Amino acid sequence: YCFGCGASGDAIRFLTEQLGLSFVEAVRDLAQGAGLAVPEEQVSDDERQRRDTLRNRRQSLSAVLEKSAAFYRETLPKHRQAVAYLKQRGLSDDVAARFGLGFAPAGWRTLAGVFAHYDDPLLDEAGLVRQRDAEGPSGDDPADPPRKLEGADRGRYDWFRERIMFPIRSTDGSVIGFGGRVLDDSKPKYMNSPETPVFSKGRELYGLFEARQALRDKGCALVVEGYMDVVALAQSGFANAVATLGTACTAEHVQKLFRFTDTVVFAFDGDAAGRRAAGRALEASLPHATDLRSVRFLFLPPEHDPDTFVRTEGAAAFKAAIQAAVPLSRQLVEHAAADVDLSTAEGRARMLAQARPLWQALPDGALRRQLLPTLAKAAQLEPADLVSLWRDTAAAAMGRATSAGRAGAAQPASGLQVPGRSKAGLAIAVPLRRAGRRAPAAPADVALRLLLRHSDWWERLDADDQQLLHGLVGSHGPVVAWLERQLDEHGAMTWAALEAAIAGQPWQDEAKGWVDAADPDEQQSFDDLRCVLHRLWRAHLSETVNQLIASGAVHREQLDAVAALNRRIRFHSEAERGLAVPPP
Ligand code: UTP
Ligand code: MN
Repeated sequence: YCFGCGASGDAIRFLTEQLGLSFVEAVRDLAQGAGLAVPEEQVSDDERQRRDTLRNRRQSLSAVLEKSAAFYRETLPKHRQAVAYLKQRGLSDDVAARFGLGFAPAGWRTLAGVFAHYDDPLLDEAGLVRQRDAEGPSGDDPADPPRKLEGADRGRYDWFRERIMFPIRSTDGSVIGFGGRVLDDSKPKYMNSPETPVFSKGRELYGLFEARQALRDKGCALVVEGYMDVVALAQSGFANAVATLGTACTAEHVQKLFRFTDTVVFAFDGDAAGRRAAGRALEASLPHATDLRSVRFLFLPPEHDPDTFVRTEGAAAFKAAIQAAVPLSRQLVEHAAADVDLSTAEGRARMLAQARPLWQALPDGALRRQLLPTLAKAAQLEPADLVSLWRDTAAAAMGRATSAGRAGAAQPASGLQVPGRSKAGLAIAVPLRRAGRRAPAAPADVALRLLLRHSDWWERLDADDQQLLHGLVGSHGPVVAWLERQLDEHGAMTWAALEAAIAGQPWQDEAKGWVDAADPDEQQSFDDLRCVLHRLWRAHLSETVNQLIASGAVHREQLDAVAALNRRIRFHSEAERGLAVPPP
């Protein structure tokens, strides 16, 4: 403890903060000083090999992408046209350098001069080159390479040609893909890297790495649609902008942003496409809109995107527009009422029917509760009427459904919680109540115990599993969110280190209870975690089905959601077969 500045912590934290070591480096350093060997995690040879292969593949892809990014960057100043283009769009050298902008020169095989082996399959896998098959054109490339390229080099050619290159970086700063813009009006305007083992459009946000510091400083993220918007906003003093990569905003995008900030403002073009995009962003945000977070929507005049707006109207006007952005609650009502005539009873009824799944996708809290009277007012109903309307339709449906096994699942008002439309919009409410004092620990407790004891297992879970854990009710969800943040900042940590970091959290005793409930020498394997996830998915499935039945309004998408859950559960069943923890 430093009495001067108040900094405190253990030996590990001292080394990480004082010397900037990573957690693992600090442990190795301390162990070496004490003459101890750091035990390596025990995994099967197959598993180790699988992980090594995956890690090596990712590293090789990153290396190839980094190398080409460096080449594009160094090439830019040598092409007067490209430099002139960026200048004409108002960009300074500084901003271009900050985003690592580059230029891919014209020519079909420029990268052959950059990489010693142009036929290396890695270049293909990284999305930097294309293979033209003997029969005909490659299909997706608008400009098909001339025939003379066939033969000796088998029609392999560069994917990015004569384009301004925007490197896309992951949150750790490594290049994972590119967007490339033409210098004129030709089509397609942008070409993007394909999905690869290191790059997925549904997860990555352009500019997030560059924006990290500004997100903290400004306490808010601006989500825009284009590469140029991000760069132009940074140029005008809004370094906290990020963009989706030509796809709709997903719940995963939103979740990722909320790791960095509590406030997200979406800035959309004022046209019809912008309205549609706002609808998707609204749906993606709902499950994450807890009371301590803020989500707002900014609509620009139809003729503008953020880039043109900030350059013609100025930074002050843009700042004012951000401040005037519509809060999520209002956007929800407007979205539900977008295509209805609120002056008729039929229109208002339709608005309510459309609002219901949106409202239900919100996590329970003050925001959700306040919205009920707001919606009631828009529909010209008393709040109590809306409550009873939604409860009665749910109850009526429950009365109709008399299938066996549902007896214990009937939940009065909270039975309204049907899944939302998007995958992550599923209201994940796994029953956690213990049956009695001697009952075995609830699956969610076990999942958290395993993760707190083996935090390195977190990154081995896929996005769906992680989302399921994030959505757990009670303290579990918040502990998962906290754990993920710790891992982002420090890498995998031992339980001892996590326990120290946990101090002061409202759920610290509960979390310690989960871990202490098991013998510290108990053998635990990753398969135990798989097994317990299987139970959580199963509980989630039955909950979802019950809620669908209770809601009385089963839509096609909701049944699709159930089918998807079913597939997921089958996947986990494989893992469960023959494992140490027997099914209940
Ligand atoms: P925009 O056309 O709004 O792009 O498309 P922009 O960034 O404002 O481009 P400028 O100002 O004309 O230079 C928005 C986003 O959609 C994707 C890109 O991610 C782009 O930034 N897009 C667009 C493509 O992937 N391909 C295209 O052909 C066009
Ligand atoms: Mn633009």
